[in-house]
Amino acid sequence: MNLPEGLVRAIPHVRSVCVLTGAGISAESGVPTFRGDDGLWKKFRPEELANVDAFLSNPSVVWEWYAYRRRLISEVHPNDGHRALVRLESLVDDLLVVTQNVDGLHQEAGSTKVVEIHGNIRRNHCHACKREMDVDLLQQAGPPSCPQCGGMVRPSVVWFGEMLPMAAFGTAELAARRCDLFLSVGTSGVVYPAASLPFTAKNSGAYLLEIDPEETQLTRYADGVVRASASVGLTAVVAVFEQQKVRS
Ligand code: APR
Repeated sequence: MNLPEGLVRAIPHVRSVCVLTGAGISAESGVPTFRGDDGLWKKFRPEELANVDAFLSNPSVVWEWYAYRRRLISEVHPNDGHRALVRLESLVDDLLVVTQNVDGLHQEAGSTKVVEIHGNIRRNHCHACKREMDVDLLQQAGPPSCPQCGGMVRPSVVWFGEMLPMAAFGTAELAARRCDLFLSVGTSGVVYPAASLPFTAKNSGAYLLEIDPEETQLTRYADGVVRASASVGLTAVVAVFEQQKVRS
């Protein structure tokens, strides 16, 4: 695979990497993306479901949708894209994976430096009192009631219109500011504030690389583009880091 020349020249000087991942990195594990042809949006119209109003007015429908996604995610496994990022963690002094995905596949692959800025579908909390719950909810027909306050239990994901977890996003912004190389992998770059992170990195002097089989909102601002799947593109990029390590 031909990688951008500027990237190959930059890699020997890279000490800090920040990676933003989106639904595309889990596509090869079998999790449909949100905005592709087989996107979850198309089948289930989640723009109408992934928000607080929908949950409060139609809890069982929203619950059913999340139960479907939970079931799907419980059956999939990390792929070579996730695994390449695990190797990269051991090859650079500083690396942070910032993921918009709620599937936990980076951690399952073995990445230890991950921030989940849109939450995690495997966790739940009470919408009213915020207490976290650790229960198997796949069997439930609708949202169970919180044993503490009677409120409705919900998945611990960030819905449209909700604030991102402040600490996680702050950590992501700091990593974007200090990195030498920023990788945007499998994200359409349309959902903010996540989509601001590549610009934060570029404005702070980082080389900005996009890995995505399709053109995205970010493409024209990227210093380099790899038009490939996450597994193929990341494996090729990490191989350059590995060769560099052998030489040094
Ligand atoms: N490898 C890499 N990228 C891929 C692959 C693949 N195998 N297959 C598809 N893609 C790309 C698509 O070309 C697209 O650019 O992944 C991207 C997926 O974009 P979206 O479906 O919009 O997903 P994402 O960017 O993660 O969405 C952001 O929006 O719906 C909300 O909260 C949800 O976190 C999500 C956020």
